[in-house]
Amino acid sequence: MTQSQPIAASRSSYFSYFGFILLCFLSTASYADKDASSSNNIHIRSLAASCAACHGTNGNSRSITPVLAGLDAGYFATQMHAFKKGSRESTVMHHHATGINDEEISLLAEYFSQQKRATPFPLTPQTLREKP
Ligand code: HEC
Repeated sequence: MTQSQPIAASRSSYFSYFGFILLCFLSTASYADKDASSSNNIHIRSLAASCAACHGTNGNSRSITPVLAGLDAGYFATQMHAFKKGSRESTVMHHHATGINDEEISLLAEYFSQQKRATPFPLTPQTLREKP
């Protein structure tokens, strides 16, 4: 009898621990469901992150690839549909656009339109050091 008490106590703490984890999980899931806006939508944010390799972080390209940050949402969506249909010629974008559905395009358009366009690093003239 004296031995069963510690077991019962640890079992109940195990269940309350499990209950707590379950509660955390459920509250996160319902939060994700309620907030479908593009900036808090994990799915759209991870899709947008896949564009970063070429278009830069949050669409702020540092190369010749077009900047997506702050792009007009209507223009963005039109371009994506044009890549999909093939009415806009592209080197790579027709591949990326075909895997993205209409809802994702409009949420991505909203997401990128809300990103702040970073000012590019100003080019400052450099003076070469004289050889000693
Ligand atoms: C492999 C590099 C690469 C990746 C990854 C990529 N893009 Fe592009 N994107 C380009 C290039 C290059 C262009 C210019 C058109 C072309 O040649 O395909 C472009 C053009 C665009 C344009 C037109 C911009 C304008 O100003 O007209 C949009 C919109 C766009 N990309 C969205 C996306 C989105 C959204 C993703 C992610 C789902 C993505 N791109 C991923 C390389 C890439």
